[in-house]
Amino acid sequence: MPVITCIDDLKQIYGRRVPRMFYDYCESGSYTEQTFRENNSDFSRIRLRQKVAVDMTGRSTAGTMIGGPVAMPVALSPIGLAGMQWADGEIKAARAAEAFGVPFTLSTMSICSIEDIAAHTKAPFWFQLYVMRDEGFVDSAIERARKAGCSALVLTLDLQILGQRHKDLKNGLSAPPRLTLPNILNMMTKPQWSMAMLGTRRRSFGNIVGHAKGVDNMSSLMSWTNEQFDPQLDWKKIARIRDQWGGKLILKGINDPEDAKIAADFGADAIVVSNHGGRQLDGALSSIRMLPSVLRAVDGKTEVFIDGGIRSGQDVFKALALGANGTMIGRPYIYGLGAMGQAGVTAALTVIRKELDITMALTGVRQAAEISRSNQRHILVPKDFEGEWA
Ligand SMILES: Cc1cc2nc3c(=O)[nH]c(=O)nc-3n(C[C@H](O)[C@H](O)[C@H](O)COP(=O)(O)O)c2cc1C
Repeated sequence: MPVITCIDDLKQIYGRRVPRMFYDYCESGSYTEQTFRENNSDFSRIRLRQKVAVDMTGRSTAGTMIGGPVAMPVALSPIGLAGMQWADGEIKAARAAEAFGVPFTLSTMSICSIEDIAAHTKAPFWFQLYVMRDEGFVDSAIERARKAGCSALVLTLDLQILGQRHKDLKNGLSAPPRLTLPNILNMMTKPQWSMAMLGTRRRSFGNIVGHAKGVDNMSSLMSWTNEQFDPQLDWKKIARIRDQWGGKLILKGINDPEDAKIAADFGADAIVVSNHGGRQLDGALSSIRMLPSVLRAVDGKTEVFIDGGIRSGQDVFKALALGANGTMIGRPYIYGLGAMGQAGVTAALTVIRKELDITMALTGVRQAAEISRSNQRHILVPKDFEGEWA
């Protein structure tokens, strides 16, 4: 087992083990990738305040997210096609999250189905819903999530139309991968991935094939997904889904204080400040940069989570210190999954928790749950962090 010191170690191994097409699918943003890059680089503009002579014993990273206990306030974001990054990837990530004590979110566009995750885990997981034109599909996905005991519905609002990622077009991304000569040659250099994939039957969109009307093979699936994201999604439709679901609702993909205010007044249990990891509106400000104004707009009416660019426990600490109630990570656990399957997801979570814990110790904080609520300032934020644009 290689020594894993940080998330980047996992990314290096991931890059060697997983076919290029799926690596590129994960490691890219839309158009110029400005928002994708800044999601991460803006974290480095925030600095930490070193505190000494504070008793640092008895520390805990534990907390709560939407009322449920978590080992640390870091949930796994929904990631489409995770089961192409490693065989049965969503099951592996969900099991790692369950053992670690953090929430796992299953994407609508996953390879393993809602029922697969329920059959392989005991802890309730979160289900992420994309609103599709086919209301019958939406209704049945909500019912399936309810039957599986999902503890929250994560409604993604920032993908009514697909942002363009150049690499996916050039690579001809598909699941399972098309067997073109370049793809075959590339897969031959990834024997562990290929063998694992040959050993599973889960190689297509498990939540869609056999569940959406008229979708029973690969070609009908492709045309269905391309046509299905609902461009008419609005607050009226969101209300219909909220009422039908009736359980905890998390609205994901909010990156603007005006939208955040509507979402909070709407009665969401939490919102996720997110720009889809820089995969949708290129040129949007990073999530961490939008966080302060969103928090002001929400004014404590709902929990505020953030994702985009978190690559370390220090980043988690900075988000909490700015006032977030919780964080979510996407790519960091996918690097772990592609590098080492379930053990790699555990490694990603372990790295982040250790970094968070040491950062807490050196900034004089003993309880992660208190970071955002304490009156002490643990970070230094540059004066122009929010105010450069009008
Ligand atoms: C490969 C990939 C697939 C994704 N698929 C989905 C998805 O199916 N549903 C969704 O709501 N968000 C999806 N996202 C966005 C993530 O949930 C999350 O917002 C983003 O990855 C956070 O940024 P980070 O990767 O820098 O942590 C995806 C992101 C990536 C990188």
